[in-house]
Amino acid sequence: MRLLVPLPGSEAFSAQVAAAGRNVELGRLEFRRFPDGERYVRIDADPRGRPVDIVCQNADEHFLTVAFVADALRELGAGEITLVAPYLGYMRQDARFRPGEAVTSRTFARLVSSTVDRLVTVDPHLHRFASLDELYDIPCVALRAAPLIGDWIVHEVANPLIIGPDAESKQWAAEIAAKAEAPFAVLSKRRRGDREVEISVPDLGRHRGRQPVLIDDIASSGRTLTAAAEALGLQGFPAPVCVVVHPIFAGDAFAKTSEVFRRIVSTDTLPHSSNAITVTSLIAAALAGERQV
Ligand code: R5P
Repeated sequence: MRLLVPLPGSEAFSAQVAAAGRNVELGRLEFRRFPDGERYVRIDADPRGRPVDIVCQNADEHFLTVAFVADALRELGAGEITLVAPYLGYMRQDARFRPGEAVTSRTFARLVSSTVDRLVTVDPHLHRFASLDELYDIPCVALRAAPLIGDWIVHEVANPLIIGPDAESKQWAAEIAAKAEAPFAVLSKRRRGDREVEISVPDLGRHRGRQPVLIDDIASSGRTLTAAAEALGLQGFPAPVCVVVHPIFAGDAFAKTSEVFRRIVSTDTLPHSSNAITVTSLIAAALAGERQV
């Protein structure tokens, strides 16, 4: 029987993955901080001879916890150790844009690869790397949320026009549009800084009357989405619906973004009030060895 070990903050998500899986025991991690802030971890389950899945929705904050848990599991006789990181961080700094910058995608991949035996994630932000295999030295499973998002749109949005805000989003927009049997368009984005984004929209006049649905993999500052919604408004479209895979929504981004959208929903790769589409069954199936079609 597989053992699932939830890291702090990932307990509810892990319980859903365990409930959706077969032959899975939901373990428990005792976690606390010593007075100086250092971490105490104790695995409250017997991992001997079993495959173990460490579930971590915030690997940035908890990477050291992952390392401590993985080492403890090995010392206690666990079998293959998988890191389930539904949102895989450090994928956006994938090149050295200015002299002296750290290419954090590479470093993070090296650290994870030397800590666990396998990685399962959802829609990693692949831009300059074609696949995770170019970065990671361990087997990686990159699941796609597009079929789930397509289903959600079919049930929730009438007469949709699927829109990707930048060239990178074409992969998701095209797959989701096919699933929803809707047309799609891709906008052009120029990023001028962490919170400065310019979007230009091709002439979408022939789609007027449709409900725009903006799709993006990540919402962080929310500027990409708000700039896209504003640009669509200038062409006479109504406030768009928005679906994001990874709802980071840093600081007041969600409040600001909500002002220009009719509705914002996300998958539950990260816990957020906008979560409406669950990837837990997808992950349970991948852990059980089923391939996504
Ligand atoms: C970048 O290329 C991604 O696909 C997202 O569009 C981007 O990360 C969103 O960031 P923000 O919300 O800060 O504009």
